[in-house]
Amino acid sequence: MKILGIETSCDETAVCLLEAQGDVSTAQFKVLGNALYSQIAIHKEYGGVFPALAKREHAKNLVPLLGQALKEADVLLPIQSERTNDSEKNSEKSPNKSTEFLQTLAAKKSQLQTLLEREIGLFEDFWQFINTYDRPAIDMISVTMGPGLEPALWVGVNFSKALAIAWNMPVYPVNHLEGHVLSPLIEAHQLQKIAFPALSLIISGGHTELVVIKDWLDYQVIGQTKDDAVGEAFDKVARMLDLPYPGGPEISKLAEQFNEQKRREIKEKYNVVFPRPMIDSKDFDFSFSGLKTSVLYFIKKIKDANPDLATNLSPELKSVIAEEFQNAVTDVLVYKTEKAFDEFGVKNLILGGGVTANTHIRTAFEKMILQSPHIHLIIPPTIISTDNAVMIAVAGYFNFLLGRHSRTDFKAVGNLSL
Ligand code: KG4
Ligand code: ZN
Repeated sequence: MKILGIETSCDETAVCLLEAQGDVSTAQFKVLGNALYSQIAIHKEYGGVFPALAKREHAKNLVPLLGQALKEADVLLPIQSERTNDSEKNSEKSPNKSTEFLQTLAAKKSQLQTLLEREIGLFEDFWQFINTYDRPAIDMISVTMGPGLEPALWVGVNFSKALAIAWNMPVYPVNHLEGHVLSPLIEAHQLQKIAFPALSLIISGGHTELVVIKDWLDYQVIGQTKDDAVGEAFDKVARMLDLPYPGGPEISKLAEQFNEQKRREIKEKYNVVFPRPMIDSKDFDFSFSGLKTSVLYFIKKIKDANPDLATNLSPELKSVIAEEFQNAVTDVLVYKTEKAFDEFGVKNLILGGGVTANTHIRTAFEKMILQSPHIHLIIPPTIISTDNAVMIAVAGYFNFLLGRHSRTDFKAVGNLSL
């Protein structure tokens, strides 16, 4: 079946068409079309995501991206006028499919207009598009309903409902975190190895959660952050080091900029050591706000004590701060995750979320799992680590396979949990 995936929870507007077949243990996927617009350049100026701007950009870009994804998938066909399709005589007697489609569409116009009225310009683009192309051969729509920025989520939610009405197809609301958890299973060799209970560590800009997956779509959150999410901490520390948003990839690059010898010298000279918050706590919760504050105080202390560094830290020192911060985060993540293995009889470990794009963190988990050879580690390819629509379509397919119902009455939920 063909699934249209739509994602607008944060600063990525994404639409994809995914072909999926097989049951839960044999599912196979093929991405037929994939279009993504990252708003990073726009939000950079604000040093983070600005919700009203994200909403506006989603509204502006959804229709062009839909066109792009469907075109790539080769399912976008202009509506044929009757004259070119049938002979004039025939057309009067029996309207062709396109004519019928346009007629039913016209009857739904005010309903669709009401649905999209809150997103500036979206109805106009949508109406033009939907009246230009035939209903594509798609079986269902899957859209992120949360968690995320509510104004941004609503754009995707309303857009997918409008498409579902216009094209008369089911829509499955999906949890964004479930998308992060299930998307690595797009690779068949990973799906074949899945066994429950599995453990998932979700590390993204908005979330840090350890989740036991007892069975398909059956989750138990065993730990989460008490304050900042990991990605958020990366972004904030990056700002302290004058790096642009999003800070994660920048910190990662900076941390490796100088050779090891040089980094060690600087680390010793300035005694760059940060805490590993909550590493010894009995629970599985995390906290990254204190670590972030330690970095802030450290920078202030260094600047006060070294007049030559007062306006600008040296690139070498910045690199060592980035490295030590990254190490501190990694140590906590790895240690707490490993601690859950025995307690929950874990058979698989699935990493998910944008921060899994971090090479140091990936390597640390690969090393750690060598100590637990009975556990299979699944890390998403970096290309689907950060937000995208494919992960939403994959999650939608599993929801469909497991008998969840399509719905039309759902809302965007900013703080949706697993
Ligand atoms: O999953 P995601 O794309 O969006 C959310 O659902 O939040 O994650 C975005 C987060 C940002 O905070 C970004 O800085 C972080 O993922 N990130 C990274 C890396 N690439 C993205 N953090 C550390 N290292 C990276 N290479
Ligand atoms: Zn995400």
